[in-house]
Amino acid sequence: MTSVDTVAPADIERLLGELTVTEKVRLLEGSQSWRTHAVERLGIPALFLTDGPHGVRKVREVEGAFGVSNNLPSTAFPPAVTLASTWDPTYAARMGAAIAAEAVDLGVDVVLAPGVNIKRNPLCGRNFEYFSEDPLVTGVLGAAFVRAVEARGVATSVKHFAANSNEDFRFVGDSVVDERALREIYLRQFERVVTEAKPSTVMCAYNALNGTFASDNRELLTDILRSEWGFDGVVMTDWGATHDRVQSVWAGCELDMPGDAPHNRQALLDAVAEGSLPVAVLDEAVRRMLRLILRPRAVAEGRHDPAAHAELSREIATDGAVLLANDGILPLSASEEVLVVGELFERMRFQGAGSSLITPTSTVTPREAFDARGIGYRYHRGYRSMSAGADGVLEAEAVAAVRPGETVLFFGGLSDLEESEGFDRPSMAMGENQVRLLRRLTAAGARVVFVMFAGAPVELPFAGDLAAILDMHLPGMHGGEAAARLLFGEVSPSGKLAESWPLTAADASSAADFDRGPRALYYESIYVGYRFHDAAGTTLRYPFGHGLSYTRFAYRDLEVREADRRVTVRARIDNVGDRDGVEIVQLYVRNNRDGVFKADKELRAFARVPVAAGASADVELSFALDDLAYWDVEAHDWVLDDGAYEVLLAASAADVRLRAPLSVRRGRAPRSPYPAEVDAAYATPPRTLPAAFPALLGRAVPPESPSRRLTMETRLTDARRTLWGAVMLRAVSSRVRTDYTRALALPDGTERDARVKNAHFVLRMMPFQSLRSLAMSSGGAMPLHVARGIAELAQGRPVRALRTLSRKTPR
Ligand code: BGC
Repeated sequence: MTSVDTVAPADIERLLGELTVTEKVRLLEGSQSWRTHAVERLGIPALFLTDGPHGVRKVREVEGAFGVSNNLPSTAFPPAVTLASTWDPTYAARMGAAIAAEAVDLGVDVVLAPGVNIKRNPLCGRNFEYFSEDPLVTGVLGAAFVRAVEARGVATSVKHFAANSNEDFRFVGDSVVDERALREIYLRQFERVVTEAKPSTVMCAYNALNGTFASDNRELLTDILRSEWGFDGVVMTDWGATHDRVQSVWAGCELDMPGDAPHNRQALLDAVAEGSLPVAVLDEAVRRMLRLILRPRAVAEGRHDPAAHAELSREIATDGAVLLANDGILPLSASEEVLVVGELFERMRFQGAGSSLITPTSTVTPREAFDARGIGYRYHRGYRSMSAGADGVLEAEAVAAVRPGETVLFFGGLSDLEESEGFDRPSMAMGENQVRLLRRLTAAGARVVFVMFAGAPVELPFAGDLAAILDMHLPGMHGGEAAARLLFGEVSPSGKLAESWPLTAADASSAADFDRGPRALYYESIYVGYRFHDAAGTTLRYPFGHGLSYTRFAYRDLEVREADRRVTVRARIDNVGDRDGVEIVQLYVRNNRDGVFKADKELRAFARVPVAAGASADVELSFALDDLAYWDVEAHDWVLDDGAYEVLLAASAADVRLRAPLSVRRGRAPRSPYPAEVDAAYATPPRTLPAAFPALLGRAVPPESPSRRLTMETRLTDARRTLWGAVMLRAVSSRVRTDYTRALALPDGTERDARVKNAHFVLRMMPFQSLRSLAMSSGGAMPLHVARGIAELAQGRPVRALRTLSRKTPR
């Protein structure tokens, strides 16, 4: 791939001089869902944008905001949950390069990726699209991906900025986060990606952050993103996230997506005409857009090699799978016949649902991979994955096939109807049909190996009865091949969890205030994931960083050196088993907690270390002393506390192998910027909303919205309270329901699965939309004045509503 320069800065100033105000305003909005506007008379082309994140989802025809399943085929790589479990930025870079090559071939200019939100709670429906609960893992992999895509002349869009941690209330929610948690947990990975990898665009989130919607949030989009981090690209909205278009331009949000919202255009035109939006502010936004549109473009040098991309997706799936448990049953011998149970064996679940749904170029299911190897097996479907209810006949057949003591491979996990963008899971439990079947199989004397396909942690109360658990996460389009390689020992598993697995969702640090309403109180502050579990002593199913191998590793000879404010840590890793393997070595630093409350330890570096059977390898890891700084809310800056720290080299957050003291004398004497009640309440992580939360926030907790009236911001589900609201909800959902019913009626196969997923996603998401978000994301299908009219009708103002509905000029 080469790139060509198309425009010099002087040309941009010339274009600015020639563009009319209307043309400028149009350049700041999308068109037909996936394009920007062209200004043909001046030779300004349109950009084409597509999702992201784990492939290029170019829609076959522009079909409005709702369609996500009619896409041109592309490589469906493993989603972020799997990529993160490799802990390998070179995989992120190789995937990025491959995605960029496909984007170039498909004429795509901007890939809406990566998603770098932090996994605050295991129930978030979109966790599969995000990397980790930890900002370092997320930031390192996210930056590697962005660098690789941008290096090939394709723009990225780092999303969703910021504190978008739940799906249920995403269109109307307000994430209430204290300044320190914001900086240390929710912004830190964005900061790394922006400062190190220089993405061309950032996508702001739907939700509000501390009372101001992200799209209108000047502190976020200008003060932090541009002034502090030096971002000089374009901020676009998530699809339908604009609230107040004029305010959003003031705030630093250039591009309104999907656009085609006449009232937004008109609002900008009016503001410029009235002088409330200075032309200079508009011009600066347009200048940034022009720089994006006219940036050096990639030119394909011959088409990409789909086979090589498929192989890369298999490699990532193989090295991202995590062997959670193994009593020694794995690896299996390829010459022994096994009983295989579970529909996912032949209808593998390889990606999540929602806007990231890729149409794969090909798939390899576990069954196909077994057949290619000539593995002998008896197969029983056991359950239907697209339904939570048990199928008595399928279940009985599978159980009857068990010969006591034999190995049973159970293929299961979460279904597409349980885990998706657009809504959260109500609990971490797996479908009752699969749980029952698993229990019956073990009760029948089977030695069950659970091959799991799920994008997020699930409850495993039966784990003790299983012989092994191999978590494939969501392995991408050739995940079946990866599963076979691992099960039959062609490769030793090497992935490790990039998130903690609590026993149930009740054990998550955010459990007391997750999805309780639109207002999300992040009362747990910095105590997210292992930062909480370490200090709280939670009994976990599996800790952060956990993953087994077919071999074993020993750690020795720890050396810690400090020079030029960098700490370098060396050690030797011995492979003490009889198979080649890869160990993911994690470097945590135990914090000095003399002054202010802190997590017990935090991840500071990590590496994948390949070690041949019986051999040893040296590992060197390093971090900057300043990485140990915390965010001081008085100084509004990072501050390094002097004192005693400890370097910990670990195989997981709960498996520290080597330790050495680290004394820091290059910072400040420890002290706390908080009132004493905050440090007292947060010295041990809170399990419920502490009385000190307002003091931590530095202000009163905002009230929950008390209004019972249907407004533009009311969730549609709440609209049922009024007659008109109920009528409107019925009308909107009936169209979506029809799509769903039609999809269900299709013949069995991948096309049906994709359409069912898509329709179910829209159906489940619908109640969480507000009238405003619905209008904004409908690409013109529901103009805003119609949505306003409906709200006014529901408020009992029919005359006003009629006037609004009959309005010709959008406002
Ligand atoms: C998602 C974004 C996505 C956009 C376009 C939104 O609903 O939140 O991640 O890029 O749609 O499909």
